[in-house]
Parts: sequence; structure tokens; C-alpha cells
Amino acid sequence: MAGNRTLSARNRAALDEWYTQLVDIEAELRHYRGHFRDKVVFCNCDDPYESSFFKYFAMNFNHLGLKRLLTTCYAGSPISGEQLPLFETAGLRDSEPPREPYKVEIREVPDLNEDGAIDLLDVEHLLRNDANVMTPLAGDGDFRSEECVALLDESDIVVTNPPFSLFREYINLLIDKGKGFLVLGDQNGAKYKSIFPHIVANKLWFGYENGGTKWFRVPDDYEIMTESRKKVVDGVKYQSMGRIYWYTNLDTTKRHEPLTLYKRYTPEEYPTYTNYPAIEVPKVAEIPMDYDGEMGVPITFLDKYNPDQFKIIGISTELAESCRGTPLRRTTPLRRARSWAGPASFFTRSGMASTWACTSGSSLSGSEPHREDRVEEDHGPRGRQGLPRQRRRRRRRLRRQAQHPAEVPTRVCLRRQEA
Ligand SMILES: C[S@@+](CC[C@H](N)C(=O)[O-])C[C@H]1O[C@@H](n2cnc3c(N)ncnc32)[C@H](O)[C@@H]1O
Repeated sequence: MAGNRTLSARNRAALDEWYTQLVDIEAELRHYRGHFRDKVVFCNCDDPYESSFFKYFAMNFNHLGLKRLLTTCYAGSPISGEQLPLFETAGLRDSEPPREPYKVEIREVPDLNEDGAIDLLDVEHLLRNDANVMTPLAGDGDFRSEECVALLDESDIVVTNPPFSLFREYINLLIDKGKGFLVLGDQNGAKYKSIFPHIVANKLWFGYENGGTKWFRVPDDYEIMTESRKKVVDGVKYQSMGRIYWYTNLDTTKRHEPLTLYKRYTPEEYPTYTNYPAIEVPKVAEIPMDYDGEMGVPITFLDKYNPDQFKIIGISTELAESCRGTPLRRTTPLRRARSWAGPASFFTRSGMASTWACTSGSSLSGSEPHREDRVEEDHGPRGRQGLPRQRRRRRRRLRRQAQHPAEVPTRVCLRRQEA
């Protein structure tokens, strides 16, 4: 038991320790070559001994035409210098990384070993022999520290995989400082209150290689619960993660490619939300080509977003009329009642499968788009007697539906750009 607790604590400390593979960096970076000429690149969450970002830029320093490469190492890394030797295949494998946090600054990579090629062996030569290349930091290398922010001020483009736990702070710092960036993050990060407005304002979008699964190198003692997400190759442990996206503000060709639309709008196929005047589009590929109003689409749309084709209005968690304060049916268990206090979502009326419930007359049943369907209160047996059977049935059905609206997962709300 005590052992488990220790492991969990260790896991928590190591939550940010996911090391990106060179193959994933190369697959994305090949799209941006033109952005780096004469630029100062900063990898500010990267121990050069561990990081493939440093490795990529050091190896391609001349090819990309970089002006300078800056890299800082964070003292808080629980595995710093212990397990992930970057130069295992070339050079520094036998050398010990410094104990204290440090900065590496590369201004040129000449063919120092005179073997006719410029590669990691030359970078190794630089690190070993040029005292100006590797210098100790005064602090712990936190990207928010004064000295790291001063280095950020000197740089043009930041490229890395930052700690996921500090993603909001990280992105906001880069945007506040007006820096170019290309960084990895969880797709969910796009939903954050402090991140999504940057997407709406076209200050942040997604790179190329976002789909599928990426494998990250993790510390040897990192606990991975799901077998299918774990692999060990040549004694090195990897964990797979889905939904890892490249966040950037560097222009891409992808972002100017229009999404091909083929479906036509019908009110039956695209119901209007009960608590926001937009239609539900369950799949990005099914965005109707002829609908001029607002549409709610899955968050994966962001990977296809072309600002010349669509305008993003907002996100359902911000736009939806909230269910907070909605009276709940007596049968609703307490744990459901707690769910209602969660972030707002869009709802559709066709919600018989939903286990959620609210009374008619709530904010959901009376919202504008479905005014004509609104359920009237019953007036007792006398009032009902005069109604034809069919109408009574329809009213009962509508009332049941209003009591069981279907919650829709988080939606991005958009409209087509005017031609
Ligand atoms: C997700 S890992 C990625 C490491 C490396 N950038 C890569 O992609 O292989 C995030 C790194 O940020 C470091 N880190 C955590 N908090 C940090 C902070 N406040 N400032 C700078 N680096 C930090 C972690 O130690 C870890 O090495």
C-alpha cells in the first residue's frame, strides 16, 4: 500500500515527463522550413541531453539557416540527465550532463571534427570544447523565470513540447510576448477558457500532424495502467497518447485549404439546439453547404479550420444557456443533480436516450428556436378530455422529450464566411 502511494506520488511528479520522438518532430517540422531562416529558435522546456527538439534544431542548424539556437533545462525534471541520453548514438553518451540547470546557446555549427559532414558529432564537439556554448542558469530554468523570459524576449520562434500541466500559462506567455511558436499540447487544451479566444481571434491554430496516436518516451518507472498504450523497445519505455495536437501561430498551407462540403440542410437532419440558436452538426464532414446560420460542430473541426471559409463564433461551454439552477425532477439522483452544476453544453430535444432530466418550463424547453414546440402545462383531466387522442399523444411525447433533452458533447460554434 505504502509502495503504491510512493509510486503514485512519483507518477504525479512525472506527469509532465513525456519525451517527444524525433520522428514526430521531423514529420511536423518539414512543413515549416521557410519560417526559420535567420531566426532565433528557443526550446525552453528542453534539457539538451534529453530533448529531440534540441537534437532536431542542432542537426539542422545550417540547413534551416538559423541565426541562433537557445535551449534551457529545467531543474524540476525528476529524470534530468538520468535516463534519456540524447547522444546515445552519437557522442556525449559517455559524458555526464551538468548537475545544475543550464542554458545552451549555439551561434554556428561548423565542421569542427573535419569529417566533411555537419552533424551531431560537431554539436558534441561544440558542447565539449566551447565554454560559451553551455553556461549555468542562475535559477531553476522555469520558463516563467526572469532569466528565461529574458531569453524568450531575444528569440523569434519557440518550438517544444511544454509541461501539459502548465499549458494555459505557457501559451498565454508566448502570445503576450508576440512570439512565433509551434508546440505540442492535448486537444482538450483548445477548450480552455483562456485558450479558445485565441483561436477565435486567429492568433492560434493547429499544425499538420494531429490525428492518430503518438508514442512518447517516459521514465522507466512510469506507471502505465493500459497495456495497449505501453511498449518497451530496446529497454526504452514508451506510452502512446491520442489527441496530441500541434499548436502554432506560424502560417500553414493547410489552414488555407477549403473543406469540401457536400450535404444540404434539412431541419430534420440538423436539429436546432434547445438552448442556443444554432443547428447540431454531429460530424465535421457533414457541415451543410447551404446553411447560413450558426452551426455546432465537433471540436475536431479545429484541425480543418480555414478562416477564409468559416468564422468561429465561440464554444458551447461558453455560449450555451446554462442549466445551472434548473429545477430537477424528484427522481433525479443526487449525483445527477451535481452534474447539472457543470459547464454548460448544448442540448437537443431528441433526447430520449439521455439519463438527464429537467422539468418542463426550464430554460431548455422555453428557448427561442423551438417556441412553436413548447410544452404547455396540463390543466388536469378536464382540460385534456376535449383534445383529440392524436394531439394528446403528441403533447405527451413532446413533454417527455422536453423532460429528457440530450446533452451534446462540446461543440465549436461557427458560420460560413460570406462569399
Ligand atoms: C512534456 S515534457 C517534454 C520534454 C521535451 N520538451 C520533449 O518534448 O521531449 C515537458 C518538460 O518540461 C519540463 N518542465 C516542467 N515544468 C517546467 C517549467 N516550469 N519550466 C520549464 N520546464 C518545465 C519537464 O521537466 C519536462 O522535461
